[in-house]
Amino acid sequence: MKNTILVIGACGQIGTELTLKLRDINGQNSIVASDIHEGSDELMHSGPFEFINAMDYESILNVIQKYQITEVYLMAAMLSATGEKYPEKAWELNMNSLFHVLNLAKAKKIKKVFWPSSIAVFGPTTPKINAPQETVMEPSTVYGISKQAGERWCEYYFNKFGVDVRSIRYPGIISWKAIPGGGTTDYAVDIYHRAILENKYTSFLSENTMLPMMYIDDAINATINIMDAPSETIKIRSSYNLAAMSFTPEELFNEIKKHLPSFEISYKTDFRQKIADSWPKSIDDSRAREDWGWNHSVGVKKMTSIMLDNLKIKYRTKIK
Ligand code: SER
Repeated sequence: MKNTILVIGACGQIGTELTLKLRDINGQNSIVASDIHEGSDELMHSGPFEFINAMDYESILNVIQKYQITEVYLMAAMLSATGEKYPEKAWELNMNSLFHVLNLAKAKKIKKVFWPSSIAVFGPTTPKINAPQETVMEPSTVYGISKQAGERWCEYYFNKFGVDVRSIRYPGIISWKAIPGGGTTDYAVDIYHRAILENKYTSFLSENTMLPMMYIDDAINATINIMDAPSETIKIRSSYNLAAMSFTPEELFNEIKKHLPSFEISYKTDFRQKIADSWPKSIDDSRAREDWGWNHSVGVKKMTSIMLDNLKIKYRTKIK
């Protein structure tokens, strides 16, 4: 039987490009996008869309039945920085949505689930360099706590009920199509927009704050690859470490400056600095590479060219 996929949170930074790529691969009508608000024109016009509040079990179930959905990608979440402002809301959204989807899989309404975790599961007591797959995890943000608890629940549902749930711990994701919202790693996206629009940027993280990052194409490929991999190759059912590159705001600034020599940066840290300081600088993702063949292809140089080229076009067409 053909797979029919529901993406919940399809209008967010990752959901947007994931949905478009899945539509490219599987055909437009087998991928149903959903969110609490409409997304970009490209997303809205490339296939079916339904309004879903990820905390509402019934509306998820209705869409699953309407389209005979077989797989769900649950991309809705409140990220680290916003989560600190609305701790209870973040916990409710991040946990309830996951329980709904896991329970739908347990009840055999769907066959497979993708649920992203994050580097935010790590905390100040985790080794900073090459954070191992299995290590001390004492997250200090609500987002991190919800992702860590979520990982435990994913593994539990797999072991106890045979739910085929797959997960990766995304690092900071950099993309140009949709804007990220409420993350600590968002500076690494914003800096490109400001570079094109204003030729200067004020970073909310200090110049030497190194964090694990990834270009969106790699993140989307990882997501689709882990979902396509034979079940027995997915040996970790909590969540896989995933890495591509690590850099500091200063290093990213210097890379952009190679393209825009008069670009300027200043630093004004805020509450997000403490969150960033609690996360590892780099991640050991060897298990993902061994188990299901993960491989990244974009580094900071290539990413910077792609980001600047595309944003130049995007803003030129907007200004006209
Ligand atoms: N990008 C996320 C954040 O900054 C980390 O998963 O919250």
